[in-house]
Amino acid sequence: MFYDLASSSWGPEEIAALQRVIESGRFTMGEHVERFEEAFARKFGVKHALMVSSGSTANLVGVAALCYVKDRPLRRGDEVIVPAIAWATTYYPLQQHGLRLRFVDVELDTLNMDVSQLEKALTPRTRMVVAVSVLGNPCALGVLRAFCDRHGLILFEDNCESMGAMLNGKPAGTFGNIGTFSTFFSHHISTMEGGVIVTDDTELYHVARSLRAHGWTRDLPADTTIYERREDDFFEAYRFILPGYNARPLELAGAVGVEQLKKLNAMLAARRRNARLFQKLFRADRRFIIQRENGQSSWFCFTLILNPALVIDRARVMKALKAADIGYRIITGGNFLRHDVIRYFDYERVGEIRNADIAHDRGFFVGNHPHDLTPQLERLREVLDAAARP
Ligand SMILES: Cc1ncc(COP(=O)(O)O)c(C=O)c1O
Repeated sequence: MFYDLASSSWGPEEIAALQRVIESGRFTMGEHVERFEEAFARKFGVKHALMVSSGSTANLVGVAALCYVKDRPLRRGDEVIVPAIAWATTYYPLQQHGLRLRFVDVELDTLNMDVSQLEKALTPRTRMVVAVSVLGNPCALGVLRAFCDRHGLILFEDNCESMGAMLNGKPAGTFGNIGTFSTFFSHHISTMEGGVIVTDDTELYHVARSLRAHGWTRDLPADTTIYERREDDFFEAYRFILPGYNARPLELAGAVGVEQLKKLNAMLAARRRNARLFQKLFRADRRFIIQRENGQSSWFCFTLILNPALVIDRARVMKALKAADIGYRIITGGNFLRHDVIRYFDYERVGEIRNADIAHDRGFFVGNHPHDLTPQLERLREVLDAAARP
């Protein structure tokens, strides 16, 4: 494809890492995963990082862990404030744990939650806010952190789209009581499938560690406070304390993750160079609304929304992109409330959800890659110049 949504960022280092695992003969979770977790925690300045099988299972294990901590666990019927645009598996674990969702609209320019609606979204049953930084762009994390602190709420950060983004000198993904990352193929680093949970809360980390692997005790350190170890090794080997999952990553993913992390800064720099060109090409063009950067975006992709004040036919634009061999998608699934699966949710809208609808009906994104995209972006500009005529 001339301009694809994503491309591989693997080189000889990743292949050599895979080879080392193959030669070791051990493929199930072990020392490579542990090394990746240590490097990840160091890189993002957090106490604990836990690798899992995907960003989706990071969200699943993360939400489940909050239901099994000793102090004020989440309970069925508790309310959670969420943005109207996020990934499907941002929301699913909330539904699966019996939580009630209160949807807040997004801002049309940042595409992140409109935090001016937070007070209106708050009820006596609110226990948590889910912060999602859409497509690399930090949401109002400082405001959300302060709001949660003021009201005694948990801040859950789904940072699966924004590894490497920064706000006021702090990495996105580390503002929450718990944060999640994805290392899926198209993301800022790739282990093909993979995810990470980060937290500074040791109890929460131990609960998540147990939930990652069958809810057993085997992966817990001797000094954990979440259960009391008995002397009998026979029963301790298969001792189940929580209704967990199997969300373990493979050693192959851990080994590749270590190599990818070393390249993260260089890959982010390349993404940001592409972003400068994208901004130069489209910022002043009234036909498009492009994402307004908040802090330092890690530019997962480039979004374009056809200005609702003008009559431009998106179908025609899509057709032209297709003919030019340029990949595109709806922005992070669009307004989640418009998907059929919503019928299974217990939820409410907070005010009008207008901007998420505009993004749904008039928006799309094209890819960003960790290498130079000058010819692709210039071609995009030509194609849109011809096709996006009011
Ligand atoms: C915001 C968000 N959360 C969660 C996920 C799930 O990550 P994964 O594809 O690794 O399961 C994604 C996927 O892109 C995402 O965009």
